[in-house]
Amino acid sequence: MKILKEKSRQYKGNAYFKYKVNIPVGAISRAQLNEGEDLQVTSEPGQILLSRVGAKKQEFDGVRSQLYKEALEEFPNTRENDIKCMKKYLSPKDGERILEIGAGSGFFSQHILDLIGEKGRLIVSDPSLEQLEAVKKLNKKNIDVIQFVQFGSETVNLEKDKVDAIWSFGTMHHLIQKTKSFENMDRVLKKNRRVVICDVFQGSKLAKHFDDKVAKYCIVGHEVSFLSREYAETLCYLVGFEKPKFYDVNMKWKFKNKKDIGLFLYKLHGMTKTTPEECLKGAEEILGIEKKGEYYLLDWPLTVMTTRKK
Ligand SMILES: C[S@@+](CC[C@H](N)C(=O)[O-])C[C@H]1O[C@@H](n2cnc3c(N)ncnc32)[C@H](O)[C@@H]1O
Repeated sequence: MKILKEKSRQYKGNAYFKYKVNIPVGAISRAQLNEGEDLQVTSEPGQILLSRVGAKKQEFDGVRSQLYKEALEEFPNTRENDIKCMKKYLSPKDGERILEIGAGSGFFSQHILDLIGEKGRLIVSDPSLEQLEAVKKLNKKNIDVIQFVQFGSETVNLEKDKVDAIWSFGTMHHLIQKTKSFENMDRVLKKNRRVVICDVFQGSKLAKHFDDKVAKYCIVGHEVSFLSREYAETLCYLVGFEKPKFYDVNMKWKFKNKKDIGLFLYKLHGMTKTTPEECLKGAEEILGIEKKGEYYLLDWPLTVMTTRKK
């Protein structure tokens, strides 16, 4: 089939066109689309996707997103070390413009906003509008909330050379088109400015936990690709970033009661195909739990990667 371009009308001196293409009736019925429906267009070089408006569900929508938010609300102090890690490695400065990729329900957003102050600007992005709802509720003036369907896609319409720093936590493994994502980072980052990525890396105990337990029991599965240090370094090389530095950081998430660890993981990962008790057992076997003072500490070994645009 061929695309036909037809002039449809002339308005205020501009010509408008319609593009026509023959679609087999079988394709329309398989897609369960009907005549007259509103469609949205997503395009990439060489392909166009037509989908019902609002029909494209994200991995972190519905029950998955709801349970994730509940985990963070019910155990607000568990991830204190994650905040310390952000402050140490990203170290946001007053007045900076920062892009957060995969901000989720905004666990870091409030803290970054406090550090960049009113003259700064935080651009919060995530494919899940449901996750971003919580960020919108922060109701701050110095924040832009954007839905990127894929940070790895062509359609990241942020201005060029816009930000001083990029922060991403627990998200890189979800980005399937990593080269494209790094190209987008390069495009939106000002010269000599930093990228700080904290994520699960290949070969870690955490990667084992996700592949063995989360992928089996999560309500939406967990089909991802973890970075290796070699591949991360290659991505930096390909887009012309400085050679990255890597740091092993063990977050040690803390809990008052041991059984809370099972419930927290059950909700955080949406592991509705198993029980909180089984989640606790898996965490003890794979990750490790120790008692220190009045707290139970769960090993949560991540890698921080820092680099700069040359
Ligand atoms: C584990 S959550 C981390 C959220 C937040 N950074 C935190 O630490 O609480 C991963 C987030 O990545 C988002 N995500 C998934 N695919 C993505 C993509 N292709 N581009 C950007 N973000 C993505 C998900 O919607 C989700 O909110």
